[in-house]
Amino acid sequence: MDDAELQILKQRAPGLAALYTTAHDAILRAADAAALEQARVSTLGRKSALTELLRSIPTLPPEDRPLLGKGGNTVRRELEALVEEREAELKREALSASLAHERLDVTLPGQPFPAGHEHLISQTMREVEDIFIGLGYRIAEGPEVELDYYNFTALNTPPSHPARSAHDTFWVVEQRETMPEAVMDADRGVLLRTHTSPVQVRVMEQQRPPVYVVCLGKVYRRDSDATHTPMFHQVEGLVVDEGITLADLKGTVHHFTEQFFGGERAIRVRPHFFPFTEPSIEVDVSCELCEGKGCRSCKHSGWLEIMGAGMVDPAVYDFVGYDPEKVSGFAFGMGVERMAMLKHGIPDLRLFYDNDVRFLRQF
Ligand code: PHE
Repeated sequence: MDDAELQILKQRAPGLAALYTTAHDAILRAADAAALEQARVSTLGRKSALTELLRSIPTLPPEDRPLLGKGGNTVRRELEALVEEREAELKREALSASLAHERLDVTLPGQPFPAGHEHLISQTMREVEDIFIGLGYRIAEGPEVELDYYNFTALNTPPSHPARSAHDTFWVVEQRETMPEAVMDADRGVLLRTHTSPVQVRVMEQQRPPVYVVCLGKVYRRDSDATHTPMFHQVEGLVVDEGITLADLKGTVHHFTEQFFGGERAIRVRPHFFPFTEPSIEVDVSCELCEGKGCRSCKHSGWLEIMGAGMVDPAVYDFVGYDPEKVSGFAFGMGVERMAMLKHGIPDLRLFYDNDVRFLRQF
């Protein structure tokens, strides 16, 4: 209704005009959806003045009926349209208010997500692998839950052999030394491998010479103190070919220590015993800290022990069907934690597994 129309209505039906103006203002004043609904009910609802007026038209004098009837209906349509408009307006306002509040700036830089890196033990294993791959070795693997047969028996360590008790084995299915030999064989005990040497047997079962392999992985023993953890890592090496001698073993170890520790390092070989190598040796590397003069970390000897090794015992070849008249070989085993400690001057084994990132981040 424009101003002119409203003027005419005011002159001819002042009551209806006043009703219109009040309703119009009430609708426009509504500040939210609930207030608007209230305004709609009070101005257009069944009990509103307008509805009552429209209902009373049949009772009015005939000459008043056309004006108030037509005018009343116009006012109703106008007010209904106004409610709709106001409703749309309130929705728009609510939307822009929420857009202003809940704004998401997708161009802001993201939360930094720090990338980790390999644990020092894993890094050390990769380094060792790389050195032996450079020499043409293959990487071999074997299970951590192992059969007694591979961990001991086929490594020339039969049930009741005294060397077994030195291993502090975690048994999964135990073989008891009181069992008759026949029962033990049938039972075939299951254990967590105490060294990586069982992989030697598994590799030789799978292939004929020449064999040049290294195996790196977890091993388990039942001790836990400042220098032992129940799980640790070993590197196993096995070479079987024609004409392999102890000199090849020494040359290989010397090359490895220079590559791994860097620079010229002397090695020293001492006799030792392992059931599956003959002769057996332990290898020491010269202490770098004191240049061999003797210090605390080498216990004043000038030497650091790094591995057990030896020439593969012909008894082991019997288990895998190799002919000791035709081939010979060497094997060695090293502790990865110990090598990392020696290389980086780490004083305590337990630091590796405390998982304190302030320590691990340094490598
Ligand atoms: N497996 C032996 C150990 O854990 C080390 C070793 C490996 C010795 C290979 C000789 C040859 O003590």
